[in-house]
Parts: sequence; structure tokens; C-alpha cells
Amino acid sequence: MYYAPFDSDDGGRDTAARTVLVIDTDPGVRWALEKGLQKSGFSVISVGSVADALANAADRKPACIVMELLPEAGLTQDVLTMLIDTPGAPRVLCVAVDSGPQLVIECMRRGAADFLPKPFSLTEIRAALSRALDSGPSQLARAVGQTQKRANDPSLLIGISPAIQELRVVIKQIAQTDLNCLIRGESGTGKDMVAREIHRLSRRSDKPFVKVNCTALPEQLLESELFGYEKGAFTGAVSSKPGRFELANRGIIFLDEIGDMHPNLQAKLLQVIEHKEFTKLGGRRHINVDVQIIAATHADLEEKTRDGSFRPDLYFRLNEVCIWVPSLSARSEDVPLLVRHFLQKHGHFSGGNAFSLSAEDVASLASRPWPGNVRELESTIKRWLALGKAGSGDRPSHSFGRRDQITPTPPTPAPGGNDAEDRDTIQAALERHQWNRRKAADDLGISYQTLRRRIEQYGLDRR
Ligand SMILES: Nc1ncnc2c1ncn2[C@@H]1O[C@H](COP(=O)(O)OP(=O)(O)OP(=O)(O)O)[C@@H](O)[C@H]1O
Ligand SMILES: [Mg+2]
Repeated sequence: MYYAPFDSDDGGRDTAARTVLVIDTDPGVRWALEKGLQKSGFSVISVGSVADALANAADRKPACIVMELLPEAGLTQDVLTMLIDTPGAPRVLCVAVDSGPQLVIECMRRGAADFLPKPFSLTEIRAALSRALDSGPSQLARAVGQTQKRANDPSLLIGISPAIQELRVVIKQIAQTDLNCLIRGESGTGKDMVAREIHRLSRRSDKPFVKVNCTALPEQLLESELFGYEKGAFTGAVSSKPGRFELANRGIIFLDEIGDMHPNLQAKLLQVIEHKEFTKLGGRRHINVDVQIIAATHADLEEKTRDGSFRPDLYFRLNEVCIWVPSLSARSEDVPLLVRHFLQKHGHFSGGNAFSLSAEDVASLASRPWPGNVRELESTIKRWLALGKAGSGDRPSHSFGRRDQITPTPPTPAPGGNDAEDRDTIQAALERHQWNRRKAADDLGISYQTLRRRIEQYGLDRR
């Protein structure tokens, strides 16, 4: 078999990585955002009309778009879809005076990265921008906007191994139920994908799929993300905002890295599961929701229930049914298909240069142990496309030392490895990517969550 990527265009994303396009009819807002965001190192283009926005999005390929939604929302929401579909797939943050759940859900369904009620503070918009940019291409767009994906779309899960076939059967069975589901498996095995597959095949597929990463936010922020807040609930809460549970109503909420959820929030989550209702921060009204919960973790939850960091009652409620996603080493026959898939998906990394892999290359990839699982394989293919294949056939081993120089770096840091070496490797990767953790994690071939844990563990900070 001959493996070559399809040609594609990266849309100049790297050069435009810090460019923000602001679309707002209010010149005052445009001015404030230009000044405020420029101070934070963004290059800002601001326009007052949809026509200018579309022209600029195509020409300048911004990494992020801050878009005002007007009351005559039908038109602007179509524009939202067009903007998200422009080359480079910018992350779009919607802002609007009307922030009712219907509008927010509609935006998320169409792939918006986030939604902010107007008026917002510069701190809020900066935080939303860095969340959107840090979370990889349209993370939330993928998370919430997948409601277009229907059961007759092709499966997202690549693989022919018996383990994957069995996994597909289990996914289908679970998708027919309303049971809360716990997805287990090593990091990088595809737990996210499994959650999306359940949604795609379930009767809730035309309702929202809302992903929340329980590691990514500190406790209080996570609480307001999950449950929303009322105006005046805390300093800076200038208007009320619906939480992810409300947005997920009648659909599925995907609680990723559930093992890292703070015990206070575990108690509140248990209440939602038991009573199907909750209150917003600073609110008294009970909000009823019908949400199926899918949670994922690579942690040993049983151990966590024993050491007291995870509530056993919550564990049992989430674990109504459990899916184990097999490690890649247990299904090496899937490697060739995955390689072909990633060559197509990331063909643009080769910068237009011809790139191909021989059958021997692929066989050698299939025989590797892949401790970082499918994510590590994907990173390897991206690196090979960008930098050429490592001649030695070693583990993925190239990354940029200086911008103009390619130097070997130590292999992916592994738990139990040399701490000082791990620390330096991680610090170097973060510096190389200007502390963009998503890119650094990709570069290191580890998950975003693992990187966050290592940053905390080693007390790393910007130098
Ligand atoms: N079977 C598969 N087919 C195609 N792509 C896959 C498959 N499994 C995983 N991937 C890809 O591998 C990467 C990692 O998958 P995913 O994020 O679902 O892993 P995860 O188990 O959630 O990892 P973590 O525990 O670190 O969150 C993603 O880019 C995903 O698209
Ligand atoms: Mg995941």
C-alpha cells in the first residue's frame, strides 16, 4: 500500500495565529477591543459590516473572530457558519446583548467557540480568546456544534481490529439508552471520539453535545461554566449566563477528565443527576434539565474513591454503564488505516512537499508500543509531514530547537522517567510554542491534560 497525503492548504494559520477579527456595529466597542487586545499582543482588524468581515476573513485568515450577533439573528447566524467554514477554520466568539439559552445553543450548534453576553469586560474577552485559541481548532465548535452529525454519517472511529469492532457494537447499544456512561482508557486512545459517536448514534443526536473539560478550569470557573450564573452573582457578572447543563438540555453533556473534578462540584453534580435540576450561581430558581451524562477519565477512579478524592455515590451514578477503550498496542492492525487517515487529515503540514510512506515504514509504525496511543501516532505523522521522516526509524524524535534549526530532543516524557529531563523538555516545548499548551502538548506527543498536570507538578511558569 502506498501512503501519501492529500494536498491541502493550511490557510496561512501560523502567520495569522495572533490575529483577531472584530465585527461589531458599535464603533466604541471596536475601538475598545482594538486598543485592549493590541495591548495583549493580538493584531486586531475591526470591521462594522458583514461584507467587510467576510472579505477580511478570507484575506487575512484570523485565528479568532469576535462577532456581534444582532437582533435580526437569522442573517448573522448564517454568516457565522460561513466564517467558521473559511480556510483556516477560525474560532468564533459570539457576543450579543440578548443571551437567552436559545441563541446561545444555536451559536454553539453552528460551531461557535464561545458566547459572551454584552456588555463584557476586557478581562472576560481576553480569557475567552485565550480559551478558544488554547483549546485547538474549534474545540468547542466540535464539542457543541456536532449536532449536524447524524447516524447516517460515516463513523468517526477508524479501525478494523476485533477490539474496535466490539467497541462499535457497545457504542451502538449504549446509544439506544439514556444511561449515564463512563468511558475509561489510557490517554490518547479515543475516549473523546467514543463520546461523540454515542451522541451521533443516539436519539439525542439532533440535540446538543456539550463538552466540558473538568481539568481545564479552576473550581469556581468550572462551577459557573457548568451551572451558569445570575447577574450580580460575583464581581464582573454584569449579566446572567446559561451554564453548560442548560445548554445541553435534552442532549448529552460530556464531562471530560471527571477524575479531576473538585469534591464540592462532585456534590453539586450528584444533585443534578439525582434531582435533574440545579440552580445557577447567585440564583434561587430551580432549573430542570433532561441531560444524559457521559464522563471520561484515564484515572483510576476506584483508587480515587478509596483515597477519598472521588465520591463513591457519584462514581456509581456515572458508571451506570462503562466502556473501556483499548490501547493502540492491543490493536496494532488498526495502525495502517490510522496512518492513512492522518496523512490525509494533516497533509497540509508537508507544506506542499511530496511525502509518502513505504509499506515497511507503516509496518515499523505498527510494531511500536505507542504509550501515548492514537494521539502519539497522530503527532508522529504530523511531525513527519512537517519535518520529514526520522531516518533512524526511532521514536518520534525531532522538534525545533531554534526556529532555523532542527535538533533531536529526548523522547516523550513518561511517568517515572527522569524528572529533571522531563521538566526541561516540557519547559522547552512551552517556550517554543510561546506557552500555547495545546501546541506544546501536540509537539511532545502527550495529551493537553497530561501537559497541564506536568506544568503543575513541576511548578513551571513563563520565564
Ligand atoms: N479510532 C480513531 N480513529 C481516528 N482518529 C482517532 C481514533 N482514536 C483517536 N483518534 C484521534 O486521536 C486523538 C486523540 O483522541 P482522543 O482525544 O479522543 O483521546 P482521549 O482518549 O480522549 O485522550 P485523553 O485521555 O488524553 O483526553 C484525536 O485527534 C482523535 O481524533
Ligand atoms: Mg479526551
